[in-house]
Amino acid sequence: MGNETAVRAASTVSMDTIVSLCKRRGFVFPSSEIYGGYASFWDYGPLGAELKRNIKDAWWRDIVHKREEVVGLDASIIMHPDVWKSSGHLENFTDPLVDCRNCKQRFRADNLPGFEQAVEAGATDPLADLPCPNCGQRGKWTEPRAFNLMFKTFVGSVEEDAATTYLRPETAQAMFVQFANVLASSRRKLPFGIAQIGKAFRNEITPGNFIFRLRELEQMELEYFVKPGEDDEWYEYWRAFTMDWFTGFGVPRESLRLREHDRASLSHYSKGTTDLEYLFPFGWGELWGVAARTDFDLKAHATGSGKDLSYFDEETKTHIVPYVVEPALGVDRAFLVFLLSAYAEEPDKDGTRVVLRFHPRLAPVKAAVLPLSRKAPLTAQARELRDQLAERYSVEYDETGSIGKRYRRHDEIGTPLCITVDFQTLEDGAVTIRDRDTMEQVRVSLGEVEATLREKLGF
Ligand code: GAP
Repeated sequence: MGNETAVRAASTVSMDTIVSLCKRRGFVFPSSEIYGGYASFWDYGPLGAELKRNIKDAWWRDIVHKREEVVGLDASIIMHPDVWKSSGHLENFTDPLVDCRNCKQRFRADNLPGFEQAVEAGATDPLADLPCPNCGQRGKWTEPRAFNLMFKTFVGSVEEDAATTYLRPETAQAMFVQFANVLASSRRKLPFGIAQIGKAFRNEITPGNFIFRLRELEQMELEYFVKPGEDDEWYEYWRAFTMDWFTGFGVPRESLRLREHDRASLSHYSKGTTDLEYLFPFGWGELWGVAARTDFDLKAHATGSGKDLSYFDEETKTHIVPYVVEPALGVDRAFLVFLLSAYAEEPDKDGTRVVLRFHPRLAPVKAAVLPLSRKAPLTAQARELRDQLAERYSVEYDETGSIGKRYRRHDEIGTPLCITVDFQTLEDGAVTIRDRDTMEQVRVSLGEVEATLREKLGF
């Protein structure tokens, strides 16, 4: 266990298995389920809330706390509407929508099966011969219309245009808009970064695949400001970082790949973008995007606001507009990837053991304290130990069911260590610690339990 990278094979688990485990064990529930659910909104249950928090903490620790040159920001979700005009989102944050004239179903044109191949083959009208995925009719498409993905909302009591703004579709913009304030207050020199974790909202047209494509999502974004001309080097650095970060938490290398976007598919702000992709059960999908955004954003907001967003370079005694490299990761997608890659089924003496081999830092529960019986002296001792360990770790006390069943339950939610308090504990003051992955058990005195956890968990 500890912090070493576990070498594992790519996961072959199905989405249905993961969705059902998530519901059964309290990782993720359909939003508003008692009202029939709500498309592409999901709620994180007790274990999901822990896992999500651990993912965000791990990212913050590695991106902000460990790096001297990166600082954090926690900005408001609703910003001045002009932010979205200057950033280009009002004009460009759109999907091309088409309707099938036969069955009236609506689709994203560029997501239709065969669209990409038609574009690659140089078709003048790539939709012309494409069948409708719903009714099968070919080429019955309306002209594509640009549909803006931002959720509109109204600030103030009157629903008039002056009060219209948007729920942010990405956390990035606040880091550009607050560039001058952060620079002045943190006194950083280039290269330096501003990082933020927070909710974003997108009115996705083709939602689905569980928490892969959400309408309310959470992002962890870093805007890394560098001197013009040094951006290519940093683009390479952050591309490599994304791969190392996920493999460092045990995600198998063979289920990850870096895919460079071709020029035609680049966002309006980007000179180059690479996605770290994961091999999901439904195919390769974007996990972490790294974009070379040039000076597009700072210049756009400087023009839009009329404020100076330049940086004074002490070496050359000139004002420059920094270039930006942006690694942008979705918390929900990271959550799904860690779940999928942790999942394993193994034969054991009672049939099949389901185990989530989470990295100890990410595991929702670090250790379970299990009294062998519900008899008072044992439960009192076990509760005392739980309370002591809970000062440092998220620890569960569990006294229901046979010890075998309890081990299984904790394997299935990825608890790295189970600590059993038995009758002998009352005599020798020692407990048994079982390792989730090797199933090995060691006897440890009560006074040594915390130090043993620290050693086995790696922190
Ligand atoms: N600031 C740049 C930006 O937002 P993006 O590629 O649109 O770039 C970054 O989003 C990351 O956010 C993606 O790589 C993905 O992990 C996550 N993400 C984007 N849209 C999402 C959605 N609808 N549901 C869940 N995660 C999403």
